[in-house]
Amino acid sequence: MEKRSVWGSKIGFILASAGSAIGLGAMWKFPYVMADNGGAAFLVLFMVFTLFIGMPLLLAEFVIGKHGKTYSTEVFGKITGNKYYNLIGHLGNVGVFFLLSFYSVIGGWILLYMMRTVYVIVTNQHTKNYETLFDQLISNPIYAVLGAALFIFLTAIIVSRGIQDGIEKASKIMMPMLFIAFIVIIIRSLTLPNAMDGVVYFLKPDFNALNAEGVLFALGQSFFSLSVGFGGMLTYASYLDKKTDIVQSAFSVVGLNILVTILAGLAIFPATASLGIDNAQGPGLLFIVLPYVFDQLPFGSIFYLIFLSLFFFATITSSISLIEINVSNAIKYEQKKRKKYVYFIALLLFILCVPSALSNGTLSQMKFLAGTFFDNMDYLVSNIMLPIGALCYALFAGYKLDGAIAKQELMDNKYRGLFKIWVFLLRYVIPLVILAVFITLMIK
Ligand code: PFF
Repeated sequence: MEKRSVWGSKIGFILASAGSAIGLGAMWKFPYVMADNGGAAFLVLFMVFTLFIGMPLLLAEFVIGKHGKTYSTEVFGKITGNKYYNLIGHLGNVGVFFLLSFYSVIGGWILLYMMRTVYVIVTNQHTKNYETLFDQLISNPIYAVLGAALFIFLTAIIVSRGIQDGIEKASKIMMPMLFIAFIVIIIRSLTLPNAMDGVVYFLKPDFNALNAEGVLFALGQSFFSLSVGFGGMLTYASYLDKKTDIVQSAFSVVGLNILVTILAGLAIFPATASLGIDNAQGPGLLFIVLPYVFDQLPFGSIFYLIFLSLFFFATITSSISLIEINVSNAIKYEQKKRKKYVYFIALLLFILCVPSALSNGTLSQMKFLAGTFFDNMDYLVSNIMLPIGALCYALFAGYKLDGAIAKQELMDNKYRGLFKIWVFLLRYVIPLVILAVFITLMIK
């Protein structure tokens, strides 16, 4: 087999992994799902799940990837000698494909908004009704499909350049810029009149408003926003050298992800409270609320464009990790043909994303199970496939992975106390929580 790529630096790996984690989950989905499910109660539950379920799973992906140094559809067989375990990798490979099909539609909306904002800056033609604008934009079939196509294409360009020149370089530039832009918008948001009402809403839990479905969403969100369950983090860790401390890396990724979740809340909820906008607006929250916020600023459109660009960075650093799972497996025996495979996979993705792109317009009446095609893809991935993937990772790392290997990868002496807790969580707590949430929902 040909030689595999490696990261250029540890910080490159951490930023790429944090880039994978931080994305639509924390910045777009979290705020509106939280608003629908008990506000801060959901936040508390999400943090508990992230620390005790998402984090151990992230470590499991890191350990398996770093130790196995191979593809997500091969590593499980390599470790156990039983190739049937590779099904875990195949599940992830299919899952990311479904995930990207709707992820790229939202990526496309961001791009469309960026173009529109440039138009506004140039022509000075402002809109006052952002609800209508959003509806018009996402229901237009040409815009929606072209936006998604462009997003997939940009993802493909980065991934086609490989690990160090593409993914690592992109993450190192985009991630720091994301934080700088957050600071600007949060300061603006917190200085609006009545902003504190939003902060109170964000931080004061109401556990009565949380039902079984909310618990499932919080659980799904902890997997989704840490990118665990499909082997993305495993794939990134497979490009590591022996020396990297993965426990420290996992803490950094989780910490940054929680930080962005909180920053997103602090950017949005004070602004909605101040402007009297309903938080439970669903997927449009970010696209409808933020323009109002930026309209209150001098040079608002320029700030909005900067913010959209950063939101775009967060999204594309996640989508490159998603597509990389498929690509790394596809080029298993032909490392030199990365480019060709990337564009082929991008084309397949584009085909699958069309029904999702049309779900808010042409196909909006075609509803089944969870709603439109888009809603179904989201529900299937976030609430079914990711939890199943996560369950498989927990059981595999808890029961099948040799303890000695895990200990060695986790750097035995430094984290001895942690090892026992990690195994306990993987063996008992995580499987039980996932099953309990599933069963509760089924008998409901
Ligand atoms: N963590 C990403 C987000 O929150 O947007 C989504 C994601 C990326 C999920 C990669 C799974 C994955 F393998």
